[in-house]
Amino acid sequence: MRKPIVAGNWKMHKTSREAAELAAEIKRELGDMDQVECVLCPPFTSLRAVREVIAGSRLQLGAQNCHWEKQGAFTGEVSAPMLLEEGCSYVIIGHSERRQYFGETDETVARRVRGALDAGLKTIVCVGETLAEREAGTTCSVVERQVRIGLSQVRAGEWDRVVVAYEPVWAIGTGRNATAEQAQEVHAWIRKILRELGGDAAERVRIQYGGSVKPDNAHELFSQPDVDGGLIGGASLKADSFAAIVRAAL
Ligand code: 13P
Repeated sequence: MRKPIVAGNWKMHKTSREAAELAAEIKRELGDMDQVECVLCPPFTSLRAVREVIAGSRLQLGAQNCHWEKQGAFTGEVSAPMLLEEGCSYVIIGHSERRQYFGETDETVARRVRGALDAGLKTIVCVGETLAEREAGTTCSVVERQVRIGLSQVRAGEWDRVVVAYEPVWAIGTGRNATAEQAQEVHAWIRKILRELGGDAAERVRIQYGGSVKPDNAHELFSQPDVDGGLIGGASLKADSFAAIVRAAL
């Protein structure tokens, strides 16, 4: 049995004071939750504030990106060991917004995953097709390429520290979620590729769905056999909706 995992990707929202307030509300709702792994991913500047608030609870801390090198002349970047020291256990890598706006490629995703694993972090690796790719019938081949290259540097024994997030780009922030059937189809495809890459460990890799997950559609999505939780954007910015989504994964 895979333990469901629901992560809130706060994107570029919340100052550290606002983040601490939201984290405190989420802690009141979910601080004891142990059947579902809950991860809060605020901006870098709020990591420490959120860490202090959630200390002693079951909530976990994640970041939204990391560089592949441990240190160096990479202005504006943050390394995996830095995140670890801030209290992160997870880092999101290869989100479609990073691919779309910041030049992230499958190759840089692979390098960042390697850097994160080397530092001891767990990774949430994002994949997903654009609307044009779906309409062209290339969803499976696009996702296959993203998975094969993005996870090409994961070694045997490391798969338990890998989570994959399937986020169709056309569903992100649009209010138009994939149907449960559409999600399951791609999740099953991803698991098939994971079996080729990681063997039996693929059965333990959690695959999250992301893209307009809300309290009213979460349960149906999470009920699919290969949907092991969600990566939540907008609805993670309110404690009550995030908590409702987490409970939908029970
Ligand atoms: P929304 O839930 O706002 O559609 O965002 C999804 C997402 O990008 C999470 O990483």
